[in-house]
Amino acid sequence: MTGRFRLVALAPDHDRAAFDCGSDPLDKYLREQASQDMRRRTSVCYVAIDEATNAIAGYYTLAASSVPLTDLSEAMAKKLPRYPLVPVARVGRLAVSVAFQKRQLGAALLWDAGLRAMQSGMGVFALVVDAKDKTAASFYKHHGFVSFSSNPLAYVLPIATLAKTK
Ligand SMILES: CC(C)(COP(=O)(O)OP(=O)(O)OC[C@H]1O[C@@H](n2cnc3c(N)ncnc32)[C@H](O)[C@@H]1OP(=O)(O)O)[C@@H](O)C(=O)NCCC(=O)NCCS
Repeated sequence: MTGRFRLVALAPDHDRAAFDCGSDPLDKYLREQASQDMRRRTSVCYVAIDEATNAIAGYYTLAASSVPLTDLSEAMAKKLPRYPLVPVARVGRLAVSVAFQKRQLGAALLWDAGLRAMQSGMGVFALVVDAKDKTAASFYKHHGFVSFSSNPLAYVLPIATLAKTK
């Protein structure tokens, strides 16, 4: 990654209005909804702050979640206990500002999410994401996520697999 970034939880003094990732719903979420979700403790929004300008260069949200064991592939499910629900961490949204794209920041945000899930002190089997479209899905596939469940845009990456890639 070129440039220097600080990865921290979203705070009131961060300039959310200037963020532009090329997707209106993702820009709007950061502007209007992210802080509220944090106050309600339904997800935490982490931002990458460009050290040079203090601009928000990218963000992702992370929340505890679970998926039905029966939604996972047989290969994944057979290594797990037969409880109906499997604990996961959900990356609800992830976006990089147009000005900072193609500089490995998206990959760094994904890795940071995995690291936080690993270090959470709770049992977390995998990261899951709901890709918003085919382009987003191809980004997640590029990073080793595989499709699961009947939703074609739902992707999963076991934490153990992520840990082996670094
Ligand atoms: C998708 C997005 C997060 C990628 O961020 P980025 O910082 O430009 O991507 P990176 O520079 O970190 O790319 C890392 C790697 O992923 C690859 N990659 C990036 N976007 C990709 C895509 N859409 N499909 C396949 N691979 C992709 C890069 O080629 C790079 O590969 P390499 O490590 O082998 O060189 C960014 O383009 C974005 O925010 N887009 C708009 C919002 C969006 O679609 N969010 C998706 C979540 S719903």
